[in-house]
Amino acid sequence: MALLQELDTGTPIRTGEATVTLTIDGRKVSVPPGTSVMAAAAMIDNPIPKLCATDSVEAFGSCRLCLIEIEGRRGTPASCTTPVEAGMIVLTKTPRLERLRRGVMELYISDHPLDCLTCSANNDCELQAQAGNVGLRDVRYGYDGANHLKAPTDASNPYFTFESSKCIVCSRCVRACEEVQGTFALTILGRGFDSKVGTGGVDFLSSECVSCGACVQACPTATLNEKLVIEKGTPERTVVTTCAYCGVGCTFKAELKGDEVLRMVPYKAGKANEGHSCVKGRFAYGYATHKDRILKPMIRERIEDPWREVSWDDAIAYAANEFRRIQAQYGRDSVGAISSSRCTNEEVFLVQKMVRAGFGNNNIDTCARVCHSPTGFGLSKTFGTSAGTQDFKSVDKTDVVVVIGANPTDAHPVFGSRLKKRLRAGARLIVIDPRRIDLVKGTHIKADYHLALKPGTNVAILNALAHVIVAEGLVNEAFVRERCDLANFESWARFVADPRHSPEATAEASGIDPQELRAAARLYATGGNGAIYYGLGVTEHSQGSTSVMAIANLAMATGNIGREGVGVNPLRGQNNVQGSCDMGSFPHEFSGYRHVSNDSVREMFERTWGVPLSKEPGLRIPNMIDEAIDGAFKWLYVQGEDIAQSDPDTKHITAGLRAMDCVVVQDLFLNETARYAHVFLPGASFLEKDGTFINAERRINRVRRAIPPLAGMADWEATMALANAVGVPMSYTHPSEIMDEVAATTPTFKGVSYARLDELGSIQWPCNDAAPTGTPVMHVDHFVRGKGQFMLTEFVATEERVGPRFPLLLTTGRILSQYNVGAQTRRTASAAWHSEDVLEIHPFDAEQRGVRDGDLVALKSRTGEISLHAKITERVQPGVVYTTFHHAETGANVVTTEYSDWATNCPEYKVTAVQVRRTNHFSDWQVRDREEGVSLRRTEKALADAAA
Ligand code: SF4
Ligand code: SF4
Ligand code: SF4
Ligand code: FES
Repeated sequence: MALLQELDTGTPIRTGEATVTLTIDGRKVSVPPGTSVMAAAAMIDNPIPKLCATDSVEAFGSCRLCLIEIEGRRGTPASCTTPVEAGMIVLTKTPRLERLRRGVMELYISDHPLDCLTCSANNDCELQAQAGNVGLRDVRYGYDGANHLKAPTDASNPYFTFESSKCIVCSRCVRACEEVQGTFALTILGRGFDSKVGTGGVDFLSSECVSCGACVQACPTATLNEKLVIEKGTPERTVVTTCAYCGVGCTFKAELKGDEVLRMVPYKAGKANEGHSCVKGRFAYGYATHKDRILKPMIRERIEDPWREVSWDDAIAYAANEFRRIQAQYGRDSVGAISSSRCTNEEVFLVQKMVRAGFGNNNIDTCARVCHSPTGFGLSKTFGTSAGTQDFKSVDKTDVVVVIGANPTDAHPVFGSRLKKRLRAGARLIVIDPRRIDLVKGTHIKADYHLALKPGTNVAILNALAHVIVAEGLVNEAFVRERCDLANFESWARFVADPRHSPEATAEASGIDPQELRAAARLYATGGNGAIYYGLGVTEHSQGSTSVMAIANLAMATGNIGREGVGVNPLRGQNNVQGSCDMGSFPHEFSGYRHVSNDSVREMFERTWGVPLSKEPGLRIPNMIDEAIDGAFKWLYVQGEDIAQSDPDTKHITAGLRAMDCVVVQDLFLNETARYAHVFLPGASFLEKDGTFINAERRINRVRRAIPPLAGMADWEATMALANAVGVPMSYTHPSEIMDEVAATTPTFKGVSYARLDELGSIQWPCNDAAPTGTPVMHVDHFVRGKGQFMLTEFVATEERVGPRFPLLLTTGRILSQYNVGAQTRRTASAAWHSEDVLEIHPFDAEQRGVRDGDLVALKSRTGEISLHAKITERVQPGVVYTTFHHAETGANVVTTEYSDWATNCPEYKVTAVQVRRTNHFSDWQVRDREEGVSLRRTEKALADAAA
């Protein structure tokens, strides 16, 4: 078998009670009904030779290598497609079977290049291994007749090749693309000897393929193989770790040769992904060793000065001296820090500890401010805890899926694949989104209802759904009576029953057909297990928190909470958004969401850390910027976050950064924020450090160091050095000690340790005495807050309105191949799919403005103007335009506004009134930005060259 693969049982493992007992080669084995003979044999470590079977896909029975004999039956059936039966007596190794298998293998090998010694899959090839297994030593047939040895190679995909001369047409790739990924990009063309794998008449790059790699993983030969493995050879060692991109939190085996990662193989035992991946986690890790990485600390007195490389000690000393000078001159609250959802929990915990215990204030905020802070607020109010209620697996038991303001196939692809599989199996689907996302209609999936609302009207729609449920008597009264605060429910029911919330009354604002909305409400309330999945299309609004509470209201009213298949599921954007919030990086909360004014909690931290702590909530990111512009906030430490690109109203943010005396940026690259920095501390990628991330299902996953930190320090070590320099003594020798401190001070993490994580693989918090192995589904018998709390959710239209000057609404989002501000993915071959941000515009709006596909257009709001190329598409409705913000040069956030969620200040990225017109030049901001950017990139290049 392959050098680094896990056990492959050949066909998918069936779950359930092991009630069927059979005998295989004289040994008794009991397995669940539906298990194949092949899998049963594998379970007793008696593997049957196979080629077309692999346990990630259903058996196909084409290669005929896995033949068996069954007592009392004629013939030699394929073990992969033969289900076990009680009392069955199976033989897998008779002389007849061995002869047949050698014959089958001989035919395969006679049409396969015999270049094993120089093949990229040498020693990692199932065909080669099985040829050895079946004892094939000679091939009687030559290559004289027809063969496929000159079949072409398709190298169009940036990450893998398709060398069709090596294909044995086992169709594992086709089935993986269908069953695991759900994309249906591949097919078997032709019949018999002429059959071959096809990609729809085009090459891989131009096909429907989304480059998830499931086919590459499933391929038993070198036909589909990673380019890096072809170039560099077979990996030698493996480190199990967690993807550093999105909130799905996929587990991977990083396979390395020396200190170079040659491939990332999705880990079957990873509970969030179960062996699947997307293009980012599997292939787009090259940024970690990109030449743009800054590996030496740097300082400069003024942001106009060139950077000077210095030692770690000098950089830390400079930052600490400035810290002391500024705090002495401007006061205790003139300093603060921003932690990152891209960093580990341990790193985030240290940053907030340094601020609270060392700065003497609570001026710590996190990038979750700009994405899921409303989730924390809304779910805490209604359920009592700031997190999603389910595990991903729960969706396998869902009957009605509601996806609102989320685009899982692009932003959370591995969960998106799982969801599509459930939809193909018959679950119903309601999509609430201004855009026609891929889930609305795709191969073998179709939403029952697509409520294409106008951006900014989520609350109106959610209230209208609730109105129908209450007015039509669809409330799950037994659930509400037993689990929720009754008086509170009654006032909510009266509120939503008011005619002003009816689908008819809200139709004008939302643009949704009342009958469609009524039908969708009935389906969610009565269709069985209903689960709601939502994303930033819900939270990044002036009523983001209101929407989250309205979603929670719906789940409670219909009893869709507290068991598998239901729930309220925020799809977290970045890899560790959940964790960075859990670790206490908001200015008003300690770890575990306990308010800083809570005396007993604060006293406990004061005892643990040995210093008095402030009970006043600190500054949020927007407040820091405002205070900086006012001259009161002067020193900022930003770890792993690029507020100059990712936060709204770029000009305001950069004005704030310019106004500070000392900005300390820690990052992998000289990012946009670093333009305004005085100290640059090199960051470490996820491959270079130990720690943990927490994904959208509250799952704590281990991050394990695969290579040493390229700049000499992991981020937690740099923070510790800075903390010591500003007077907070820290002496951790390993991140596990930081997690021990988290566990000792945070009740929901009480049972978490690295030893426990290594033992269980991962743990979903709460993990404590009551739940020592974690909690997959929350609020099972009662809500964390006791009784569920219905909240009144009045719809208040955003102040951002369309009008004659700005008649269109801009909404923003993420696409599959790129990630957020693109700092990582732009430095990978994924640029092949998305080299610039474009503006999606409906044909009607384009025609009115004389805009053709590909034209450069000016996108103008009241805060700024940028230019980008137009893409005409019906994915957006008339009146709505859409873009991404992956490329700094585009400056998408130059046009977004200062409006934000009333409760949390989460910016209203999703609604900006704009005008679009054709243009022939880039905007003033972009021209200036490019001039500055060119010099920045020149600096970057000079530093990279010097380092090389
Ligand atoms: S990489 Fe993924 S999407 Fe592309 S063909 Fe393979 S399985 Fe299908
Ligand atoms: S490409 Fe690989 S997985 Fe696909 S049919 Fe050929 S050998 Fe099988
Ligand atoms: S789905 Fe998310 S966590 Fe999984 S591989 Fe893709 S980016 Fe990484
Ligand atoms: S492995 Fe069973 S027929 Fe191919």
